[in-house]
Amino acid sequence: MRVLGFWSLLSIASLAAAHLPARNYTTHDYYAIRLAPSSSPAELAAHLGLEYEGELGALADHYVFRAPKHTNDIVEDGIQELKRRRRKREVGSAYHPLDGVSFTQKQKLKPRHWKRSVIPDVQRASTEAPVDDAIRAQSDVARALGIKDPIFPEQWHLFNVKTPGNDINVTDVWLQGITGKNVTACIVDDGLDMDSDDLKDNFFAAGSYDFNDHVDLPRPMLSDDRHGTRCAGEVAAGKNNACGVGIAYDSKISGVRILSGEITDLDEALAINYELQKNDIYSCSWGPPDDGKTMQGPHILIRRAMVTAIQKGRGGLGSIYVFAAGNGANVDDNCNFDGYTNSIYSITVGAIDNHNVHPYYSEACSAQLVVTYSSGGGDAIHTTDVGANQCTSGHGGTSAAGPIGVGTFALALQARPELTWRDMQWLTVMTAVPFDQPSDWTKTTIGRMFSHQFGYGKLDAWAIVEAAKTWKLVKPQAWFSSPWMHVKKAIPEGDRGLASSFEVTADMLKKANFERVEHITLTMNIEHQRRGDLMVDLISPDGMVSHLSTARRNDESGEGYDDWTFMSVAHFGEKGIGEWKIIVKDIKENGKTGNFTDWKLRLWGECIDASKQQLRPLPDEHDDDNHDVISDHPAATTSVTVPSGGAAPTAVPTDHPERPVNQKPSSSATPSSTAAFETLITATSTSTASSAPDNFLPSPFPTFGVSKRTQIWIYGSIALILIFCASLAAYFYLARRKRLRSSRDDYEFEVLDDADDDEGGARTGMLNGAAGARRKGRARRGGELYDAFAGESDEDLLSESEDGDGPYRDQEERDFDEKAGRNSGSEGEGSSASESSGGKRQ
Ligand SMILES: *[C@@H]1O[C@H](CO)[C@@H](O)[C@H](O)[C@H]1NC(C)=O
Ligand SMILES: *[C@@H]1O[C@H](CO)[C@@H](O)[C@H](O)[C@H]1NC(C)=O
Ligand SMILES: *[C@@H]1O[C@H](CO)[C@@H](O)[C@H](O)[C@H]1NC(C)=O
Ligand SMILES: *[C@@H]1O[C@H](CO)[C@@H](O)[C@H](O)[C@H]1NC(C)=O
Repeated sequence: MRVLGFWSLLSIASLAAAHLPARNYTTHDYYAIRLAPSSSPAELAAHLGLEYEGELGALADHYVFRAPKHTNDIVEDGIQELKRRRRKREVGSAYHPLDGVSFTQKQKLKPRHWKRSVIPDVQRASTEAPVDDAIRAQSDVARALGIKDPIFPEQWHLFNVKTPGNDINVTDVWLQGITGKNVTACIVDDGLDMDSDDLKDNFFAAGSYDFNDHVDLPRPMLSDDRHGTRCAGEVAAGKNNACGVGIAYDSKISGVRILSGEITDLDEALAINYELQKNDIYSCSWGPPDDGKTMQGPHILIRRAMVTAIQKGRGGLGSIYVFAAGNGANVDDNCNFDGYTNSIYSITVGAIDNHNVHPYYSEACSAQLVVTYSSGGGDAIHTTDVGANQCTSGHGGTSAAGPIGVGTFALALQARPELTWRDMQWLTVMTAVPFDQPSDWTKTTIGRMFSHQFGYGKLDAWAIVEAAKTWKLVKPQAWFSSPWMHVKKAIPEGDRGLASSFEVTADMLKKANFERVEHITLTMNIEHQRRGDLMVDLISPDGMVSHLSTARRNDESGEGYDDWTFMSVAHFGEKGIGEWKIIVKDIKENGKTGNFTDWKLRLWGECIDASKQQLRPLPDEHDDDNHDVISDHPAATTSVTVPSGGAAPTAVPTDHPERPVNQKPSSSATPSSTAAFETLITATSTSTASSAPDNFLPSPFPTFGVSKRTQIWIYGSIALILIFCASLAAYFYLARRKRLRSSRDDYEFEVLDDADDDEGGARTGMLNGAAGARRKGRARRGGELYDAFAGESDEDLLSESEDGDGPYRDQEERDFDEKAGRNSGSEGEGSSASESSGGKRQ
């Protein structure tokens, strides 16, 4: 206990620890390493000849090391060499500094993310005349609040005088004195002009950093570094004589610069939760390319950084992440192919234009929570620009929608500072306003309307702030995971499909301390010759349909889905009990086919008993590796041919009282909702509908013709007896080994199986480390870098360094071309190497 207390104290202290020295990727290599809690980074550095730089921000047990630039991966080479030498029994089992390493990643620069701004169509500038009453009301409000900002009358997203009502509905919130006081939003972008007259008073330097140039202030340096400043203006432009006002014009605004050059995972991880006790909201108007063929998400360090912010940020209430949905709708892109926007930890904000119409660019997906105003309909967002007193009337894309969400959430936080990150999502769900536009609006179990195109509707600042004031805070987050469901079947081409389902029982959820659903994630594997042909629907026990994946005409990738995780927010408030059904389709009859391998469902939501609920461990790269574990919850994989043009999926319960209704069927609705699909009962499936006694274990095990309960008893007894026998055997084996070891020091490694070595080193080290066995490493100078095992042949040291299985491949970059409406980035990162690691998430 005392030891634990000590370490947690230390980790709290470390949150305030000094920052890392500036990185210089021209001269040095950087390593992000996770060490067993009892290991010493200084000792590891001394052993490998690395320089220890410091802790990796707020990430528990993660450290940063550097070494002069070299082609090798010093740490990985060291680990391989240690394994080899142990195998040959040249090194004993005693603790080695490398044993404490449970994760290592040599940093590589990766292509920059895409900014999500779209140049509005100026040719079709709005010619609508303002409404006189609205103009009067607008100037009354300005007078009452003392707003003299010259472009305030143009800021239609704040107060719309041409299409009244089509705005964020914020002025009555301001009149209550709720203007973002005591809240800090951090713009993670291409910089922020802190010298601008409109931003300088609200600029918060202590929450800011430049991760491109590695200096303290995130000053825009490149000619196109305007995006971050514009986003900042939307949130927190001051009430003054410059340009307009931000939605939260008394909030603080900080900037973290990452989009102005290549960066590493290490820097992105540091950036995305930078100063997580000072910055409350992170505004992210960027992401993987919106080209309709990329499938990519945050790599492991970045995912850990986001979970750290969710668990520790804002004093444990959780940082608020806001991501722009993406601008690839015109090329069939969907925000579920972007691992940032489909993270359960981010609020994904899409765009509508000044007529509440869906603009051509704004991506739809089941992970999108809400929409708000941006460019389209002949106008764009008017806000602050780079320069002392510069304004723009051309900020747009989902890039401009995200920060309007950020400003709105800042107001809610001033009204109710104790909201957790999940309360903010709930409040958004409960107060977003559906509007009269054709879409796939569907009533959810809790009576909210959801559309894949518009989420739960448009943000309304007044509604969310009023609700925040009296909102009953949610209990901590619980989760439930299904086993891996093995399907391993060919997906028929055409308008049929392959269905598979999993029954969640009340008992399973009770055991998981799980009360009600917020997010659903579904991790899946499909091998396919053309990924863009695939569509995936998820149907909940309440009959709500999430279109997890939609077909993309440009996605020619032959990679299929590799442990990709889709997310849906369409099931907020459902109980989760009953059959969850997934339907996979290959909608193009082009001879390009594939197989549905497996899937795993996770429910995330509110717990039953807060006092029993633990925090989720940080995500691990291997979280989803146990695909072959045989489950005791067999999947009912079904596939029945229904004549084409047949009825709606039979899986949708027809008698459910809360069954969603399609309110406004859309012309653009995906065909899946009415399409016929195939169902077949597989041989391995032990259907719950069978009249024989339920089988507790998979079918090879006899049921003895007795009830499930009795089976559990019988198998339980057998298991106990087996465990007892195994323990006895282990006892005698260990006793014998102990005797042997006393005579031969290195014996332990004779029994180590080579095949087991992949992680064995690290695991052994964790154990040894935890036991406190530590040997003082001797300090090495830089010149001895590759000499950590002096006397060994170089061949062995280098042999494993060329795998190239880093998290991404460096790719050539295209220049940012704002005029052409195309943003910089590389399509390369979307393919192969990066996406396989990027997509895995919790
Ligand atoms: C990195 O070091 C090189 C050589 O000393 C120097 O020219 C360059 O400006 C440095 N870069 C940064 C970002 O500090
Ligand atoms: C907008 O705010 C006003 C108060 O200013 C409120 O009466 C109205 O209901 C709000 N709109 C919506 C859709 O909630
Ligand atoms: C600002 O926030 C801090 C920390 O949450 C709190 O202690 C303080 O009372 C707040 N101040 C105001 C004026 O709300
Ligand atoms: C699907 O499985 C079949 C049978 O195992 C195999 O021949 C085929 O190559 C698989 N298709 C893909 C795209 O992997």
